[in-house]
Amino acid sequence: MNVIDYLIDDENRIERKLQDLVDNYLNWTQDRSFEEIKKIINALGIHVRNKETLLTNNLKSTNGIEPVLEKSVQERKAIDDEIDNLTQLHVDEPGFKAGLDKLLHVVTEHNRFCETEFFPKLGARLSSNDMEHIQQQMDQIVMS
Ligand SMILES: [Fe+2]
Repeated sequence: MNVIDYLIDDENRIERKLQDLVDNYLNWTQDRSFEEIKKIINALGIHVRNKETLLTNNLKSTNGIEPVLEKSVQERKAIDDEIDNLTQLHVDEPGFKAGLDKLLHVVTEHNRFCETEFFPKLGARLSSNDMEHIQQQMDQIVMS
């Protein structure tokens, strides 16, 4: 599987897990919801900070794609802000469900942005050699 397809799969899997938690939050035990959100936050952090950063780090030039890079930084910040908000709440607090809804919203936005803008624009700038190199770096993350 190529790197971009892998990243799309990765973020869609995280989105589905988060949607599942939002849908079942009222039925699941607090322990289960807590375990799920911990896993989702961890996977999200690795996805945006480690995996997607590999694409940006391997660019030879950012000329002409500054807006898409800037937007990706803002989106990352929006996700971090919602994660910070959630980690300050206990899983049974009234604001927790609203926090989950907001996180799902920013994650969904991020995913659509990646699929329609970020991946196509960066993918067009990366050679097959770059992609092979990124693939190797990504394997290190996935295996660690
Ligand atoms: Fe992404």
